[in-house]
Amino acid sequence: MDTKNIISKYEKFVAPTYTRLPIILTKGEGSRVWDSEGAEYLDFFPGWAVSGLGHCHPMVVSAIKKQAGSMLHVSNNYYNLLQGELAAKIVENSFDSKVFFANSGAEANEAAIKLARRYFQVVKKIDKYEIITMQNSFHGRTLTTITATAQPKYQQGFAPLPGGFKYVPFNDFKALEAAITDKTAAIMFELIQGEGGINVADKDYVLKVRKLCNEKDIILIIDEVQTGIGRTGTMFAFSQYGIIPDVMTLAKSLGGGMPIGATVIAKKYSDVLQPGTHASTFGGSPIVCAAALAVFEAIKKENLLLNVKKQGDYIKGLLLGLKDKYKLIKELRGPGLMLGVELNIEGKQIVRDCMAMGLLINCTHDTVLRIMPPLGVTAKEIDKAIKILDEVFKKTERA
Ligand SMILES: Cc1ncc(COP(=O)(O)O)c(C=O)c1O
Repeated sequence: MDTKNIISKYEKFVAPTYTRLPIILTKGEGSRVWDSEGAEYLDFFPGWAVSGLGHCHPMVVSAIKKQAGSMLHVSNNYYNLLQGELAAKIVENSFDSKVFFANSGAEANEAAIKLARRYFQVVKKIDKYEIITMQNSFHGRTLTTITATAQPKYQQGFAPLPGGFKYVPFNDFKALEAAITDKTAAIMFELIQGEGGINVADKDYVLKVRKLCNEKDIILIIDEVQTGIGRTGTMFAFSQYGIIPDVMTLAKSLGGGMPIGATVIAKKYSDVLQPGTHASTFGGSPIVCAAALAVFEAIKKENLLLNVKKQGDYIKGLLLGLKDKYKLIKELRGPGLMLGVELNIEGKQIVRDCMAMGLLINCTHDTVLRIMPPLGVTAKEIDKAIKILDEVFKKTERA
């Protein structure tokens, strides 16, 4: 394959919104991918956490193939065979709710924000509209979701931003309490901040926030776009905190590689968005729902939640071993297979060096290596990845 020619087409014709590493991925299978020159990599950050089941999981591929033969897309003026089934599957695995389908995490969050405002303004007829989010959060790239994302770097140059958002430090209950006014409609956050550097919410904090929302009639929106679908060892992270959200947002690995977003709305609020108030052309199409249903089936059939716990403990033990060995590692964070290795140095070159040795990982917030292998990862694959990390850390400290 003509690698140079393919990359030059991007340079000429694709808007330059991404920093890309110079390989062209052409084939994937489980935890492994291959590039256009035939080189093999272990993918420990598959598709920005989209390919949670690994690449081209056979059950997902087969469901897509089967559905593609009968119906790809049905507009939401009609019913299709699978949207209701997928909603029921999400509800069965989460809490008493109804689901709105879209195509991305940003859209799922946008719907959650619209719902919170509409509930108070239209259903309760109260002037409540403020949304409180957390510093270092990430909720998407639309104008409203970069405003919800409390990181100036994502907002710069896009003023004026939509009004009615307030930011507080993560895990600081006093600051949150102090930010509440009679205009507060919702509190929205990730239980484990992914892009923000794998920052884990304290259990006590989350319980207090849930209680506060009940007392003050505030809608609790939990963004599980990255933590959802088994990543932390349970289907959704909220169950580990002993709370139930009012609204939960999903995307990424829900579709097994197909684009999907879902806003899961507790019964009390589930009829707020009525016909004409919200929609998405592609939302809940049968081809995407077929893939997402196969994701749930595969997680159950292959007992993947158990594997996340088992391999999560295993890789964490090995990473802690590396932490003892190398001064450049500051801290290890995260549950299950959602891991952040915070470094004392920038991580960009480490990501490149790992790639050169056949391991794909990510670096976020300049210094946090994000390691999120597929839910079905094996101990052998983990050993191989750790060996590469060990060599790269050794070389980096020597340099
Ligand atoms: C927690 C969280 N919410 C929302 C989003 C936005 O999702 P999307 O890129 O699908 O719009 C992301 C993406 O990284 C995310 O990690």
